[in-house]
Amino acid sequence: MRTDNNITIFRKDYTPPSFWVDTVEMGFDLDPKATHVTTRTTLRRNTDSKEKELVLFGEGLKLVQIRMNGQKLARTAYQIDKHSLRIFNPPDNITLDIETQINPIKNTSLNGLYVSNGNFFTQCEAEGFRKITYFQDRPDVMAKYTVMLRADKKKYPVLLSNGNLIEEGKLSGGRHYAKWEDPFKKPSYLFALVAGKLVCQEEKIKLKSGRKALLQVWVEKGNLDKTQHAMDSLQNSIFWDEQRFGLELDLDRFMIVAVSDFNMGAMENKGLNIFNTKYVLANAKVATDADYAGIESVVGHEYFHNWTGNRVTCRDWFQLSLKEGLTVFRDQEFSADMIGTNSGRAVNRIADVRMLRQAQFPEDAGPMSHPVRPESYVEINNFYSVTVYEKGAEVVRMYYTLLGHEGFRKGMDLYFKRHDEQAVTCDDFRAAMADANGRDLTQFERWYSQAGTPRLKVSTTYDAAKKTYEISFTQSCPATAGQSKKLPFHIPVAVGLLNAAGQDMSLKCQEQANPTDSTTLVLEVTKAKQVFHFTNVKERPTPSILRNFSAPVEVEINYSDEDLAHLLAHDSDAFNRWEAGQRLAMRRLLKLTAAVQAGKPLELDTMFIDALSKTLNDTTLDAAFREQVLTLPSATNIAEQLKVIDPHAIQTARHFMRSEITRHLKDDLLTAYESNLTNGKYSPDAESTGKRALKNLALSYLQEWPQDSTFDLAHIQYKNAKNMTDRIGALSSMINAAILSQKDSASKSARKAAQLALDGALKDFYNAFKNEALVIDKWFTLQGSAASTDVKKMRQLLKHPAFTLTNPNRARSLIFAFCNANPAQFHAADGSGYALWADLVIQLNAINPQVAARLARSLDRWKKYTPALQEHMKTALEKVASAKNISKDVLEIINKALA
Ligand code: ARG
Ligand code: ZN
Repeated sequence: MRTDNNITIFRKDYTPPSFWVDTVEMGFDLDPKATHVTTRTTLRRNTDSKEKELVLFGEGLKLVQIRMNGQKLARTAYQIDKHSLRIFNPPDNITLDIETQINPIKNTSLNGLYVSNGNFFTQCEAEGFRKITYFQDRPDVMAKYTVMLRADKKKYPVLLSNGNLIEEGKLSGGRHYAKWEDPFKKPSYLFALVAGKLVCQEEKIKLKSGRKALLQVWVEKGNLDKTQHAMDSLQNSIFWDEQRFGLELDLDRFMIVAVSDFNMGAMENKGLNIFNTKYVLANAKVATDADYAGIESVVGHEYFHNWTGNRVTCRDWFQLSLKEGLTVFRDQEFSADMIGTNSGRAVNRIADVRMLRQAQFPEDAGPMSHPVRPESYVEINNFYSVTVYEKGAEVVRMYYTLLGHEGFRKGMDLYFKRHDEQAVTCDDFRAAMADANGRDLTQFERWYSQAGTPRLKVSTTYDAAKKTYEISFTQSCPATAGQSKKLPFHIPVAVGLLNAAGQDMSLKCQEQANPTDSTTLVLEVTKAKQVFHFTNVKERPTPSILRNFSAPVEVEINYSDEDLAHLLAHDSDAFNRWEAGQRLAMRRLLKLTAAVQAGKPLELDTMFIDALSKTLNDTTLDAAFREQVLTLPSATNIAEQLKVIDPHAIQTARHFMRSEITRHLKDDLLTAYESNLTNGKYSPDAESTGKRALKNLALSYLQEWPQDSTFDLAHIQYKNAKNMTDRIGALSSMINAAILSQKDSASKSARKAAQLALDGALKDFYNAFKNEALVIDKWFTLQGSAASTDVKKMRQLLKHPAFTLTNPNRARSLIFAFCNANPAQFHAADGSGYALWADLVIQLNAINPQVAARLARSLDRWKKYTPALQEHMKTALEKVASAKNISKDVLEIINKALA
């Protein structure tokens, strides 16, 4: 086995571990500069393995001593290099005692054991455990853990680890201890400890079986007023999993701990979930509706991992989507069920698909493209990707669509029956789904092995005399990195047919039985070309294809504008209603972008504006849904549709469309604004959230009106805001208001007054929230993504005393906002945005390779930009590639981009 650093690991090279581990007993003497870790493991030879040596991984460890079966291990019996410790000719049964010393305070990677605000935390997924001790740090090695924590009692009054607390007490010298035992076997990536000054909100609940469980949410002292929503979300998650999947909490105690320095969203360590503060802390004063929703879904996500991830885990990291795709699907379903209404579900679905298109489609078409189950990696952390997570969730959703509610549940039940307490593969999951339903899902495997977003071309013919209707599908998939030829996918395509009155027609298809008498039929497209024949079709229908986004594909179909307006007005499938509106907008945005580039005059037709106005004014529709329809495709969505990306042309086109909409619909927007004010006590329920979203969207459109009256509306909202959603909504409108830049239309004095008001509000906001880190992150994000923030302004913001690169949330708040959400400025024609990016990637690389590697992704699509921009991007990429001490995390991204 190779253990050097910068090498590619292949899925095909998987071999079982040479030894199984039964028990792990750890002792920690916690000290920020020198923590001592003793680890006693009992191992037994895996007779299925051909490997003779025992290879333990270790990174940045000081080995204090090593003993095997009670004896000091001879120096000739083992070898240590930078990444491993190998023991030669070990006996079949081993008790290994290893003592290591580590330096948590110096650990800025936030991987392994580290210190944040004076407290100790761990992050072990995927390969952080090897930064604590030498171990076969791989998910198929599962063992029972006992953990003894010792630390200064004053500085670290709280000592937590996985499972149950079995003993605690005093030690000499002002120290104390706590002993924890996890009753379940687990892989090392689920190990966790927390130690420090923390307080908790706790509640006892009764589980389905009648057992009681203690739930705790641990935070720093000043944050105890922000834990209720996380606690509620946890309880809802527990009850939901009992109800929907028959899965009960298997521990007597379940803890969530919030930490402000964290690389990702959260981590599902057994019984001791560790969370980014962003996904725990909320009250009306500091958190937005989006934050509330994010907390609910991440709390759900980590809790659901307890079964999908922990009880059944991954055999190797290529199988990551086994737990992540499935758990994202589960958290999406949880959030949808929490809303309950059909329209609310659709709005959630729209948001998920937006995100898929915003991030996953570009990933799938770029240099980092990989299948849901990757074939190789250099650094596994780079594969905690939107493809593995979000496309993986779409793949799980397709089983659900193909097998139905009951069928999917049968598959899940069989999966747990077969694989509880095992480390398994995506194929095992697929087999459980197939076997439980007597279905052949062989072809479905291609969703795991082939990268790229499939295209589905749709054409239709209606025969009025015979009353027949044909839908033909042609599927293809673009070549992706390392995969030139693709085989057809098994694609569930949910279809409905609308009559001229806009009603669903009843469906009779020759090729696909219609089991329930429903008006939506799931057609199973499995061939490159396939035709479905519908009979008894009384009039020429308007087809509604891929309802509820039944597969992660791009549908190409020749709709007329009238077809789209018809679908937007009537489709019983709310997702496709929205989709029709987006199609109307997209085809115009593409035309406008081309017009900008050709120097032609820009025009927007009234047909489109009318369609939008109808939706905006249709108060029978939920505000949340109307907000989604009125939200235009993003600059990234537009870019993905173009052969060559010209960010400035896109920006001009999109801006033109927004201002035209406002010019025509000003009164409607004002009405929408005024009729969706939410008064009274803040509540993050779906209805109030939807109202605030529509109101704030209307407010932002109104800022395209270059008059001071609409700006004042935003300013007044800012001053009177009773919750963070309205406060940040107002400030965002103000900072992007046209009055600040449109030199000719606004009077000079009005412009000056607006600028003063904005400056005052930004200052006021900062002062009011300077002790709330998560709110200051928002303040930076707002500025990083503001249309007026150029590279020069960015360099100033980076020097702000509250800015730091060492805290990932803060670094992301400003830098990622600029590089990923401010395209017109980031892609400055002189390349200065890329030069800034290169500097920051290099600086971050020295502090935290994982965060640096995420930032490195901002230039993924460089080969699609205009030649002049490409040239600058290449220079920036090469600068990073040739810098000193670049981590394998960052190098993998840059090398793939430059390949
Ligand atoms: N398993 C975690 C989650 O999705 C994510 C942990 C990712 N950590 C990492 N170092 N890549 O819930
Ligand atoms: Zn997860």
